[in-house]
Amino acid sequence: MKKCFMVFLAICLLMALLSLSACAPEGGDGKVETKTVGIVQIVEHPSLNTIRESMIDELAALGYADGEAITIDYQCAQNDQSNLKTICQKFANHNYDLIVAIATPSAQAAAGETSTIPIIFSACTDPVGSGLVDSLDKPGKNISGTSDAVSAEQIMELAVRITPGIKKIGALYNSSETNSVSVIDDLKAYAARSGLSVIEATVTNSSEVQQAVQSLVSKVDAIFSPIDNTVASAMPVVTEVTRKAQIPIYVGADSMVKEGGLATYGVNYVTLGRETAKMAAAVLGGKKAGELPVKTITDFEVYLNLETAEAIGVSFPDDVLEEAVEIFRK
Ligand code: TRP
Repeated sequence: MKKCFMVFLAICLLMALLSLSACAPEGGDGKVETKTVGIVQIVEHPSLNTIRESMIDELAALGYADGEAITIDYQCAQNDQSNLKTICQKFANHNYDLIVAIATPSAQAAAGETSTIPIIFSACTDPVGSGLVDSLDKPGKNISGTSDAVSAEQIMELAVRITPGIKKIGALYNSSETNSVSVIDDLKAYAARSGLSVIEATVTNSSEVQQAVQSLVSKVDAIFSPIDNTVASAMPVVTEVTRKAQIPIYVGADSMVKEGGLATYGVNYVTLGRETAKMAAAVLGGKKAGELPVKTITDFEVYLNLETAEAIGVSFPDDVLEEAVEIFRK
């Protein structure tokens, strides 16, 4: 009888051990295996860095601290398409548990390398038009994420409150960034309705930005640049040229205002980074990426640059100043 009980106890113990090891996968050395998250970022400009930092902080707050529950492999492509491909191939070959892709070009590269590893993208302006998802509500496949869609029309409505009388608007952007093209289409539709003419200056990389903006300033009353990674990477030079020519430049993102753009009506990228982390955590917890709807940030905020206004002889109307969530002074 006693022997029987001992055998029963031994079986119970064995079963308990087996069930434990089933929920906490162990490596050969007996340690709990952590999941690996590859983060790919097209380029280091202030806005994308803010998103990444805010996302990593929020992941830690949600129980996924780097070096503990997860291991993060962060790679930046230095604004180079072939680097993007190499990075995403490496993530796919190593069969990482999750890829977080920051900005549209990174997300397109990641989606091109894997249809099985879950991808959460961050700050993609137009995920449908960029071919990343079939629809915002039901992305399908292995991919979803956050969007920073803004409205060119709303930014232009702010622009005419600050500098009325704009007749010709310059459009400065990289025509191969699908995230920019959709906002420029919105700008053209607004211009057609409002009797403005749009004069375009497109670039293919950040070294062309100076010449492009220089070519615009003598032809237009104001310049518009969307949430464009290439222009954002060259913002100091854009500021220098537009301040010298005394031409207002309206932009798509707060960081571009911080670096000298006159104003925007844009999203908060710290919030967007946190929302990206929530989706990444859901996937790490077992949810399917393609079943999560794309999260769009709908609270737009006014950002202004006072030093640019002074440099070009513009003063912000009181109601615009009151609306601003942030007024940069440099
Ligand atoms: N929305 C951009 C994209 O889809 C990425 C981005 C986020 C960005 N914040 C920005 C670009 C600020 C320029 C400036 O790729």
